Amino acid sequence: MNATTGLSRSALLFLSRQEGLKHAATRLGPLRELASRFIAGEQLEDAVEAVKALNAQGMMASFDHLNEAVRTPEGTRDEVREYRRLLARIDAQGVRANVSLKLTQCGLMFDRALALENARTVVAEAAARQSFVRIDMEQSEVTQATLDTVNALHAEFGEAHVGAVLQSYLRRTEADAQALCARRVRIRLCKGAYLESPRVAFPDKQDVDANFVRVMRVLLDSGVYHGIATHDERMVDATLEYAAKQHLPKGAFEFQMLYGIRRDLQLRLAQDGFPVRIYVPYGRSWYPYFMRRLAERPANVWFVMKNLLKG
Ligand code: FDA
Repeated sequence: MNATTGLSRSALLFLSRQEGLKHAATRLGPLRELASRFIAGEQLEDAVEAVKALNAQGMMASFDHLNEAVRTPEGTRDEVREYRRLLARIDAQGVRANVSLKLTQCGLMFDRALALENARTVVAEAAARQSFVRIDMEQSEVTQATLDTVNALHAEFGEAHVGAVLQSYLRRTEADAQALCARRVRIRLCKGAYLESPRVAFPDKQDVDANFVRVMRVLLDSGVYHGIATHDERMVDATLEYAAKQHLPKGAFEFQMLYGIRRDLQLRLAQDGFPVRIYVPYGRSWYPYFMRRLAERPANVWFVMKNLLKG
């Protein structure tokens, strides 16, 4: 990562956590329009339509109701209600999809027991409907609490109904991957999208990428069904190469990508017969998610600036 890229990434990730901006930004028409590249819409119905279109192209999905760092117990209960509604809709419409949930959406920032209870309600609903909840991974302050929660839910509901996410930028991730695989917890491996200190995370992209490949191999060797989540063709190629070397069948793992990013690659892998799952976010609180997507690619920022100035 060069200095300018690193700086704009840090600035955007800092801005992503500013509550005041969150409310102002979501009211800005042109910004909203730009965000629609990454977000399926504000309503559940919008997301269902997007997922049906992906299913028609041979891809699966994971719905995400956007709302992180919820600050009140009532707010977290609204989230649980939305996820139960979502799981019921998936079941009723027979769409090929599961759900992704953030623990800060369930109250992790102010009450860990409440977060566990809320997540448990969502996973219980998923289990009753033969579905699956992926617990997203957030900033490193909550990594351990998130893994503890996933382990508790996994012990109760099993690998078919709940799974974890690991980020290759964290120094601890290889050890976490070994420990989770030993328990047969399903993992989504991604690079990591938050602002982290070099104390806990590799500051250089090449180390993040090297760790991604190392951890991907741990996952593919484990015999558990995992998700390899990246748009980086070098990571995809390394995965395909290692899977071929280990003689793994195409269905031994899935590729995962974000809605609106590298649609060409999504489609190519699906057409080649690999399971592909697209993360489909929807909802009104799209600001932090949108800012993290901008931070991942500086070119996106210029695109936004150009459009805002035009508008
Ligand atoms: P990298 O950032 O190196 O990008 C590789 C290429 O992909 C770029 O050159 C560009 O072509 C394209 N690309 C990537 N991001 C883009 C963008 N925003 N706009 C346009 N093009 C882009 N993170 C996390 O911390 N916790 C989580 O729970 C999750 N969950 C998650 C689920 C899924 C399904 C995915 C795919 C990703 C996540 N992430 C995540 C995000 C992840 O950590 C990471 O920030 C992004 O995936 C970008 O990293 P890449 O692996 O794509 O590589």
